[in-house]
Amino acid sequence: MKRYCFAICLLLCSSILFGEDGYRLWLRYDKIDDPTLLKEYRTAISSISFQGSSPTLDVAKKELMNGLEGLLDKKIPEQKILVDGCVVVGTLSSPFFQEYYKNDDVSIGREGFTIHTAKYRGKNITLITGADGDAGVLYGVFQFLRLLQTHQSIAKISIISVPKIQNRILDHWDNLNRTVERGYAGASIWNWHLLPGYIDKRYVDYARANASIGINGTVLTNVSANALVLTRQYLEKVAELANVFRPYGIKVYLTARFTAPIEIGGLKTADPLDPAVQNWWKQKVDEIYTYVPDFGGFLVKANSEGQPGPQTYGRTHADGANMLADALAPHKGIVMWRAFVYDVRPQKVNENFDSHKVDSTAPNIAASDRAKQAYDEFKPLDGKFRKNVLVQVKNGPIDFQPREPFSPLFGGMEHTPLVMEFQITQEYLGQATNLVFEAPLFKECLDADTYAKGKGSTVARMIDGSVEKYPTTAIAGVSNIGNERNWTGHPFGQANWYAFGRIAWDHDLSAEQIADEWLRQTFSNDPHFVASTKKIMLMSRETLVSYMTPLGLHHIMGTGHHYGPAPWVSNAGRADWNPVYYHRADSLGIGFDRTSNGSNAISQYSPEVREQWDNLNTCNEKYILWFHHVPWKFKMHSGRTLWDELCYKYYSGVDSVRWIQKTWNDLKNYVDAERFDQVKMLLAVQEKEAVWWRNACLLYFQTFSKMPIPSKYEKPDHDLEYYEALKFPYAPGNGGL
Ligand code: GCU
Repeated sequence: MKRYCFAICLLLCSSILFGEDGYRLWLRYDKIDDPTLLKEYRTAISSISFQGSSPTLDVAKKELMNGLEGLLDKKIPEQKILVDGCVVVGTLSSPFFQEYYKNDDVSIGREGFTIHTAKYRGKNITLITGADGDAGVLYGVFQFLRLLQTHQSIAKISIISVPKIQNRILDHWDNLNRTVERGYAGASIWNWHLLPGYIDKRYVDYARANASIGINGTVLTNVSANALVLTRQYLEKVAELANVFRPYGIKVYLTARFTAPIEIGGLKTADPLDPAVQNWWKQKVDEIYTYVPDFGGFLVKANSEGQPGPQTYGRTHADGANMLADALAPHKGIVMWRAFVYDVRPQKVNENFDSHKVDSTAPNIAASDRAKQAYDEFKPLDGKFRKNVLVQVKNGPIDFQPREPFSPLFGGMEHTPLVMEFQITQEYLGQATNLVFEAPLFKECLDADTYAKGKGSTVARMIDGSVEKYPTTAIAGVSNIGNERNWTGHPFGQANWYAFGRIAWDHDLSAEQIADEWLRQTFSNDPHFVASTKKIMLMSRETLVSYMTPLGLHHIMGTGHHYGPAPWVSNAGRADWNPVYYHRADSLGIGFDRTSNGSNAISQYSPEVREQWDNLNTCNEKYILWFHHVPWKFKMHSGRTLWDELCYKYYSGVDSVRWIQKTWNDLKNYVDAERFDQVKMLLAVQEKEAVWWRNACLLYFQTFSKMPIPSKYEKPDHDLEYYEALKFPYAPGNGGL
């Protein structure tokens, strides 16, 4: 008997100890730990009543019942008649809500919802009403659960919520061999080998998590595409995933390799103007829809980093995109054609092309400016795309750097809907070892004013259809999800997935609000914990910018894997893969002159924007080395010389990491042991990496400035040669390359 009790004790202890492994994300549904609130909620919620049934309504019901049972520590029964405390849930077209709203105009679009409390037929009830597509109901249910999870009062609710952007999509850079390009959380969650027979429980939880934040699309495969996914063998697997996601309102998209007609179709060419090629794609698309009737469409990376495309055949991006668009149009599918291009000449078609090996056909473009190329290639095509083509543009003109100004294509393409592409996975933001909350980065870009149609033409308004009415709008985030138990590697990486979804739904939400609600759901509602950790999250991105790429520096990381600093690299295969190309440090100063006297990239922006950034004296210092080559002794706003300011930024970045470490350590009693230790260890790694970035960059730049690191700062603990010699052949995230 004793032994038996001991075993039970052990079991209990281990489940407490290992219970918080992060798998549950922000959908933890643990019992409300505030007794007063728990009482209030239990009184307000006595039962639930679902109006009707459908695959989506059924998963919504299951979620609500599970969520309430966990949060209220009590089974909430279903009720057919109206009683006090009933939560009535259904679509607008259900008889109950038809009757309830009568002739009221409830504007919730195709996916929106309302939640409100009311006295109806003498009973105090809560109503969750979704748009007729069903997914609105699910979104409403998740929002209602979020109110409880974040300890909001539910005595009087009046919420109407409609997504501002129609297609809110995760882009997985997952390869069919389960490696993930720029993935830092283990292998791909898609177990292609076991599909279609084996459905991992994770697929359902993935769908739940996405639906909870309004994500309604997923591109399953890497933009650096493999044509095999379009074969029957793989379409059967894709169809199974689509079946799992469908009840959660999530559509599946695939990446289309432009030379698929050659590689899997047996054709001699992939020329988009060749009728046989057009026909091949038409048939292929028709076939895809037999497997996935609500298939969303294609995402295409063409003529970029070794991927084939229409330019290979002397055609334009519009020719290529339109061919696919024509094949998809009868099924209402869309094409998201990426503007991430910086090849200046067509490449040879080569099935074994390795995108990150030297492109021998590319000319030396040291004299050009990669930041200009997407605009230069796509601006002339504005207005030449079919209605179901969207051009997908990264937030900045280069490549997901810790800080970039917004891409000039936002505001530059008047007649073409653009998809905003953010990178949730932290390729350039400390990967999975650094705590960096990306919502401030997303917001900085979305809130930036393009002035394209006068003041207030923010990037967000340019893409959400409020300036130009586009039939389709979209936003995409490159996923940071892998098969690690906690999904994202770093426990705080989950916050970036969460933030992307919430901002995609409503770009007016503040970073602060998103951090607040994520923390409350994921960790704790304790006010001290929330306030302290929110501070950490909100300062984390600026902190990283300071110790990696302050003052507008960019692209100075290690070649290939992009891990760690390597501003000295000058021998990469193309000029614009080299850090020296971007920082341009010399004896006079540092920074890339993109002004009207330099590469004139500035000319791609509206006059109002140009005016702010073209002048060294008015340019916001956060972008100063992005746009200007600045003398080492230039006087900054602080009164310091540029060199001293650079030292100050790098040192303050490290100081901030140390402050974050200390703040986290003080929160030990507020966090479960497992996640507390995980974050603590990762912060120690981050501190080391921040010191490494600081020392390596300052020692290297010092060889040009010839100025001392002010003596008040701690001395670098190694010399430059030491840092230059560091090698990381197995750094993660290079999957499939
Ligand atoms: C970056 C990244 C690549 C990726 C590319 C893209 O360059 O390093 O791995 O393929 O972006 O967005 O296509």
